[in-house]
Parts: sequence; C-alpha cells; structure tokens
Amino acid sequence: MNIDQIKKEFPIFDEKIQNNDLVYLDSANSSQKPKIVVERINEFYTKQFSNVGRSVHYLAVAATNLYENTRSSVQKYINAKDKNEIVFTKGATEALNLVANTLGQSYLQEGDEVLITELEHHSNYVPWHFLRKSKNIKINFAEINEDGEITLEEIENKITPKTKLISITHLSNVTGAILPVKEITQLAHSKGIIVVVDGCQGAPHLKLDMQDLDCDFYAISCHKMYGPTGLGVLYGKKKWLEELPPYQGGGGMINEVKKDTISYGELPNKYEAGTMATAQVIAFDQSIKFLESIGIENVMKHEADLVEYGQELLQKNNSVKLIGNPKNKGGVLSFTIEGVHPHDIATILDEDGVAIRAGHHCCQILHDKLNIPASARASVGIYNTKEDLDQLNESINNCKKIFNL
Ligand SMILES: Cc1ncc(COP(=O)(O)O)c(C=O)c1O
Repeated sequence: MNIDQIKKEFPIFDEKIQNNDLVYLDSANSSQKPKIVVERINEFYTKQFSNVGRSVHYLAVAATNLYENTRSSVQKYINAKDKNEIVFTKGATEALNLVANTLGQSYLQEGDEVLITELEHHSNYVPWHFLRKSKNIKINFAEINEDGEITLEEIENKITPKTKLISITHLSNVTGAILPVKEITQLAHSKGIIVVVDGCQGAPHLKLDMQDLDCDFYAISCHKMYGPTGLGVLYGKKKWLEELPPYQGGGGMINEVKKDTISYGELPNKYEAGTMATAQVIAFDQSIKFLESIGIENVMKHEADLVEYGQELLQKNNSVKLIGNPKNKGGVLSFTIEGVHPHDIATILDEDGVAIRAGHHCCQILHDKLNIPASARASVGIYNTKEDLDQLNESINNCKKIFNL
C-alpha cells in the first residue's frame, strides 16, 4: 500500500498551514476528506441538485436514486441484512439520541437498568441520563481496568436482573481500547439484554459486520469516516426499527395525516423526518468507495503499525505519560506531560504544523476516573505515516524544552 499515493488524494495536504506541512493527527475528532468526496458534493450541487423523496421530476427521481444507492452501499459495507435497517441521521449523536429516546418511549420502564462504561463519549451517556430524569431508569457503569480496557468479565459482573440494555463504545476515543463487542453481545443476548454500540471510532478503522457482531443498534459518524459533516448512520435491526415509535415528526416520515389521526411511513422513512442531508449522503457513497478501494484489512494493518510505532516512541519519551495500555488498541495515543497543560501542548505542537486535540474529548467521566482534567490526544488516519509520529515526538520535545523539562 502506497501511503504517499493515498495522501495525494487529500487536497488539504497540498496546503501550507501557517507555513508548515500539515501533520494531521486529529482524525478521531474528524478525518480529512478525499478529493472524490469534495468533488462529489460540488458536482451534485452544480449539476444534479434536487430534494429527494418528494417531487416526480427528472432531477428529483435521479437524486432519490443516488440517495438510496448510498443506503445500499452502507448496507453492504456493514453487512446489514436489509437496506431499510440503515437510517441517515445528522451524526452519531443524533443516532444515539434516536435510540435512547424511542426505547425510552416504548420499551424501558421505571427502575430498568442501562449499563454503559466509563469510556463512553458524552453522546453515549447524556441521552441515557435524559431517561434517568424522565423515566427514572438507573445507569450503571462498567469500570476500566488499569490498562484502560473494559473486559467481558467486568460487563458480566455489572449485569443485574434489572439490566435491560448495554450501550458501549466499539473503540475508545481516549484509551484506544477495542471492546469485545461480539462477546458482550452474545452474553447480553443470552440474558435478553439489548446491545447498542457507539461505532464512531470503530467504523473508520475496523471491519464492520453486523451479522457477526449481532448488536441491535450501531451508530456511525460519517465525518470521521472520510465523509461529509452533518451526517451519521444508525443501523438498527429491522424488528426494533419496526417496533419502536418515530423519533421526530414532520414531512417525509408519515403515511397519512388527518385532523385526529396520523399514521407513519414504512422504514426507513419513518425515521427520516424533514429534508435530509442530501448532498452529504450522496457524497458519502464516495467515502465508502474510497475505503473499499484500499481495503479495510489494509487500513487496519497500516493503523496498527502506526499505533505500535507511536506508542513505542512516546513510551521512550520521559515526561510523557500515555493513557491506557490496552492489548487490543486502535489508533489513538492520549497522553499527558507532567507540569504542562494539554492545551499548551496542543498550542505548541500546532506551531510546528502538528494538529492534535486537547481537552476531555467529551469523556469527563473517564478523565475524572483518571484524576486528570484533560489530556492531549494524537489520533491517526489512513494518510498518516511513521514520519508524522516522528514529527509528533520531536514537537513534544520542543514543548518540553519550553517548559524546561
Ligand atoms: C466515541 C464517540 N462517540 C460519539 C461521537 C459523536 O459523533 P458525531 O460527531 O457524529 O455526533 C464522537 C465524536 O467525537 C465520538 O468520538
């Protein structure tokens, strides 16, 4: 695999950022976009634009077909059984809110327990918290071990007779831990418990197979997957999507509207109320094609090599403390430097053109557990190289010099 060639497909790397070549290590936040995605958005708006699913004129029918093509591509990419199990949302946050809200309306009852983990992003905690407030459900937390992992045993220990649902991240956006989702789902299903997966960090970097994972819901963030912003995907098993009530009301999601009765549309329209992110959906087809052209096994191998290399470099760098040491780890390197605030680290690295993120990464529960207010995070994508990680290490050394470390 020729990474230099792949990098050339991303126009941003032709730019000088504050007179520097860009070393982009913030893909867990959002990935850069390949030319084919950017060009597809432009082409759709300039030559093919129409709203979808409404009018019968040529452009509207053609746009609707393109929109539905992406749904089929996503279905194939994640190996869902049915195209109608794919619902477009405005992001993974909305996908997770949709699941929590609709299960809260019709399935979860007062006193039921939802099990999440200390690794969860706020998007996979706050929606359950809403149900804690409105329905008096209880939220339990599976705890991380000293390596920043969540084990199957820990999940098993935290399941009680009242656990109705487990909602877990596929890959932690802070420690990089990859959770044993398949095994957790098998265990949960053997006890009649539903499984929701926050796949934001899993989808861009891991092989996705809904038949193999067998989870009930899986949320995807398209902007982290070399796709446009403002778009997410919710995969849900058909029986759940059919059974649950709609999330939002409006045009497109109805069947018949009378003054005293309303019936709802079939899947997936039932969950796609209002004008959707048409251009983004159509362009996302190119993101999938891009990933398919490389092959997810190659992506995984390249990123595993990078993370191993980066981990070794940072482990050897005294004063740098890596967060978590999971055996099964994705491309996230979170760290602290004693005596330097993570925001200062990120600002100093930025002067060298090294883009990382600093903060709590929407994981305050985890940072509280680690007893730190924030961390610095370098995260990789398909376009990164070992030289990028060398530059990261060198810029960390520059930062240490400034702080006399
Ligand atoms: C683990 C995780 N979950 C959820 C989200 C939210 O995704 P989106 O930006 O698509 O709403 C993110 C994005 O930062 C994330 O990293």
